[in-house]
Amino acid sequence: MQGSLFENDSSANAQKEPPAKFRDLNDLYEQSKTCTKCRLAATRTNFVFGEGNPEAQIVVIGEAPGAEEDAQGRPFVGRSGKLLDKILEAIGFSREDVFICNIIKCRPPENRNPLTDEIECCMPWLKTQLQLIKPKIVLLLGRVAANTVLNNKQSMGNLREKIIRWNGYDVIVTYHPAALLRNPNWKRHCWEDVKMLRSHYDKVC
Ligand code: URA
Repeated sequence: MQGSLFENDSSANAQKEPPAKFRDLNDLYEQSKTCTKCRLAATRTNFVFGEGNPEAQIVVIGEAPGAEEDAQGRPFVGRSGKLLDKILEAIGFSREDVFICNIIKCRPPENRNPLTDEIECCMPWLKTQLQLIKPKIVLLLGRVAANTVLNNKQSMGNLREKIIRWNGYDVIVTYHPAALLRNPNWKRHCWEDVKMLRSHYDKVC
């Protein structure tokens, strides 16, 4: 554990975003699912909005849909998704308890990393999802999600093992399930992170 559990966000992001212009999450889905703001619209099969409890206290954010997610229009339904389900289950949650989504709503070709302009186009959808759901806790999966949301370039070593205040949410960062499938040794670190998530949830929710 590095210093205090809490890290205060002193960045410009500490202000809440202006209120959402959408009635509810369903309204946002209806208005976003035909998005053509970036080039990924041309190659996607489905816009992967996200799914789960629209009033969840925890929002889980990954990077971008893969092939299976693109085909089904649902987040985290491939191998990484099965592992994410197990991770949530281990701390007493099901997919239906939380809301699961990604930074980028459309699959980048060949699962390449999302490009800066694609992220810029897509972030407003994510920020609006958060405004409408109003979770207490945000779990960021992997460095791409963490660096994008927190707008920094910090390593996983610096980002883990603490609660970061961002935009009024308590943010916890852990490894992406795909990284855990490649490096099973990191699973014990992830276990520590999600245990911290569970005890923070029990305290604040
Ligand atoms: N990886 C992600 O980051 N998101 C998904 O939805 C699936 C795999």
